[in-house]
Amino acid sequence: MLRIAIAKGRTASKVNEMLKDSNEFGNIMDLKSRKLIFSSEEKNVEFILVKPSDLPVYVENGAVDVGIVGKDILMEHNYSVYELYDMKISTCKMAVAGPPENKDIVLSARKIATKYPTIASEYFKKKMERIEIIKLDGSVEMAPLLGLSHAIVDIVETGDTLRENGLIIYEDICDISARVIVNKISYKLKNSAVNRLISTFDKINGGVSIA
Ligand code: PRP
Repeated sequence: MLRIAIAKGRTASKVNEMLKDSNEFGNIMDLKSRKLIFSSEEKNVEFILVKPSDLPVYVENGAVDVGIVGKDILMEHNYSVYELYDMKISTCKMAVAGPPENKDIVLSARKIATKYPTIASEYFKKKMERIEIIKLDGSVEMAPLLGLSHAIVDIVETGDTLRENGLIIYEDICDISARVIVNKISYKLKNSAVNRLISTFDKINGGVSIA
C-alpha cells in the first residue's frame, strides 16, 4: 500500500484533477466529503488530506510514504525527506511587501511580520540587514496596516490580498510551487510505486522536470 499525503485545499483539488485519468492513482478521493483518508484496496493506494504545515512531519516519520506540499513549507524547516519532483502547480512567490510609505524607511531594525520566520530571517541575513521578526499565523497583511510591523514576508499568488489592502511588493524572494517529497525508507522499499506516481505526474506535465 502506497500512502500519499496531499496538502488540503488548492493543491489537493489540482492533484485530484491531474490524476482523474490514471488507472492506478485516479478517482480515489472525494473532495466534497469531510473524509480525511481515502483508501483503495484494489489499487493498493491511500490518499490522506493533511494541513500543509503538518504534512512533512507525517512523511519524515514514515506515517505516510509520499507527500505533496508547497516549497514554502519545505524551506521553513529542515526535514529529513527526499524532495523528488516539482509538480509545477500551486505556483506563487515569496515576497517582502508593505505600505508604499514604508518602502524606503531606514531604521536600525525593521519589524517584519510573517508566518515564515526562517525564510524571512535567512533572506535578510544574506542581505546583511538587521530586522526584528514578528511571528504570526495568518492574515499577516494586517500587521503593517495596524502598525504592528513595518513590512511583511508572505506568499503572493494573484496579488489581490496585497492590492485590496493597499500594500505593494518591495522585493521578490523566490518562486514557490508544490513538490513531491518521499520518506527515505519508503523510497527504498516502495521505489517502483513511488516512481510510477512521479512518472504519472510527469506524463501529465509533458514529460519534463524530474528534480
Ligand atoms: C495566503 C497568503 C496571502 C494570500 C495571497 O493566505 O498568506 O495572504 O494567500 O494570495 P493572493 O496573492 O492570491 O491574494 P491564505 O489564503 O493561505 O490565508 P492565511 O493568510 O490566513 O494563512
